[in-house]
Parts: sequence; structure tokens; C-alpha cells
Amino acid sequence: MVGIAVLGAGRIGKIHAANVAANPNARLIAVADPYASAAQALAGALGADAMTDCEAAIDRDDVDAIVIGTPTNTHIQLMMRAVRQGKAVLCEKPIDLDLLKSQAAAEEIESLKGRVMLAFNRRFETTFAEMRAAIDAGDIGEVRQVIISSRDPGLAPEDYIKHSGGIFRDMTIHDLDIGRWLLGEEPVQLTAIGSRLIDPAMMEKYDDYDTAMVQMQTASGKQCHINNCRQAVYGYDQRIEVFGSKGMLQMDNLRPTTIRRWSAEVTDAREPLLNFFLERYQQAYKSELDAFVGALVDGKPLPVTPNDGLQALRLAEAAVESVRTGRAVAL
Ligand SMILES: NC(=O)c1ccc[n+]([C@@H]2O[C@H](COP(=O)([O-])OP(=O)(O)OC[C@H]3O[C@@H](n4cnc5c(N)ncnc54)[C@H](O)[C@@H]3O)[C@@H](O)[C@H]2O)c1
Repeated sequence: MVGIAVLGAGRIGKIHAANVAANPNARLIAVADPYASAAQALAGALGADAMTDCEAAIDRDDVDAIVIGTPTNTHIQLMMRAVRQGKAVLCEKPIDLDLLKSQAAAEEIESLKGRVMLAFNRRFETTFAEMRAAIDAGDIGEVRQVIISSRDPGLAPEDYIKHSGGIFRDMTIHDLDIGRWLLGEEPVQLTAIGSRLIDPAMMEKYDDYDTAMVQMQTASGKQCHINNCRQAVYGYDQRIEVFGSKGMLQMDNLRPTTIRRWSAEVTDAREPLLNFFLERYQQAYKSELDAFVGALVDGKPLPVTPNDGLQALRLAEAAVESVRTGRAVAL
């Protein structure tokens, strides 16, 4: 049994804690959050100890591994405390908003042979994983182009945008990870454009964008195109197309059921898309946690590394630079 403490009892912490509690090889030891009522509510519901001190939770003898679901600016400190004690970590994205700090952390993790997995949950979603498997099986030959559309249902509140680190580090980072994962090669050049179409005043205030496109190319010429928007009136839009020398793979949005309706008003109308990331990626979060625990139990390498977190952040930084300069960025 792997004893696990979940740090952070917010949106993502709740998901991780429930998935730890449901894993037969893990025991949810504690939930820690500086807000006692949040820690208590989540820990109480899952039969774990509630703590307000995240560092004390890491230090417990019965805690072998931690899951970090706290705000991004706390990730490195908590992660390194666990790594220095030889404990394993599943850390939410991004590692940090600062590339140099993230790089230093990744180097220390490597020198300590730390076991850290970055929580790029989409890799564990059944359809995404099937796409990667189909590419590996040679179903579409050599990958030539990856096209990712990833749009949120609605603009996040100002307080979220203010601390998010900007669209590229906060939102696009998932797509940048999936892009390089599906390409199977590191991008060597990136171009990005950003627009303020939903709430120009707020975006201007935080030097951010609500609508963006990124294009990347690898050394052998493989291409990736990412479309992002913080607001799609029809719901959480997550689609991918991978085009190769022998065919193409397409991934569509998911809906609660496959019912299609016809009437005097509509034809072929389908149900709304699954609302947002908590619903759309529910299975992915569970499979991600199970993969983390499974790798620890079997003594196998963790499937997503600090380097993956670093590379995605590097691409996000390049996107920021490309928008600022209006030029392609060499990586
Ligand atoms: N992989 C994904 O799909 C995904 C989705 C959402 C969020 N995230 C990431 O998860 C992290 C948390 O996001 P969220 O949406 O759950 O946020 P949230 O605000 O809902 O939850 C954060 C929790 O951390 C607690 N907290 C605040 N300050 C703290 C501190 N100094 N130390 C410890 N805990 C503190 C808060 O009380 C809160 O309960 C972020 O890094 C975010 O980027 C990832």
C-alpha cells in the first residue's frame, strides 16, 4: 500500500483525493490545505486526516507519496521537500510559472533520482491514449500534422486570470504537451498569435490574451497547430486530428449520451458537450492517478517526467515571446 497525502483541497485536489481513496493499492492518509474547513470537508468525507500544514503532511512517516493540487506558486517548494525525503510526487501542471526555477528544480530532482510525475492528465484519457497507440502501431504511417482545437466554455473569473500566468502557461500548456507527445519529436520552431476578443479590457490589464493560435515544427518538418479560446458558447471543445503518410486519426468531443434527435425544429441534434474539464477528463484523472500508483508499486518509471513539464513550459514561454515580438522563435 502506498500512503498518500493530497495537498490542496480545491477543484483538482478533490478529484485526486477521491481517486487515491478509490485505488486499491493506495491509502489516503491525509488531505492538507491551509483552509481548515476545506481540508476537513474533503478528508472527513474520505476517511483521512485533515491537516492545515502541507509541509507537516509531507513529513509524516506514514506518507510515502504526495499529490500536489495547491496553487502553482507553491508547487516547487512542496515538491522539493518531498523529493529530498525520498518521497514520490504527482505534481499538477505547470511546475511553476518561471522557467529557470522549474529548470533548477528538474535538475535537482534528477541529481537526487527523485520520483516525480507531472500531471498531464490528457495523456491518460482513453481516446488520447488510443491515438498515441494507433500512431505507435503504424496505422497512419509517419505523422505529418497534428491539429488541436481546445476551447473553454467560458472565460474564467478575473481573480483566476490574474494569477494564471497567462493563456499560454495556464491553458495552452496542456495542448503543447499533447502536441509534442503526438508529434513524437521535439519542436524546434514556434510561432504564436494572441487576440483579445472576449474581454479586451481585462486581458489588456493582465497583459494576457483570450484567443490564441500556436504553430510548431520539428527538425524533420512535422507540424502542429493549436487553436485556443477562453470562450466557446457551445461548450468545452476538445478535438484533435493527426494526419499521416498513410491516413488520419480524428478525435471528436464527448457527450453524455449518443442520442440524436429529429423534430420540426431540428434535425440530427445531439446533446450538449460534456461541460468542462472535470467532467470531460474525469476518467483521465483516475487513470493518471492509477498509473502513478501502479508505477510506484511495480517499481517502474513514472510515465510523465519533470522534463515533460519543463519542455511544455519552454514552449509556452516561446509562445509568449513570439506574440510579443511578432516573430518565430527558435527552440
Ligand atoms: N490538470 C488539470 O486539468 C488541472 C485542472 C485544474 C487545475 N490544475 C492545477 O492545479 C492547481 C490547483 O488548481 P485548482 O483549480 O484546484 O485551484 P483551487 O483554488 O480550486 O484550489 C487550490 C487549493 O489550494 C489551497 N491553498 C491556497 N494557498 C495555499 C498554500 N499556500 N499552500 C497550500 N495550499 C494552498 C486553497 O485553499 C485551495 O483549496 C494549479 O496549479 C492548477 O494549474 C490542473
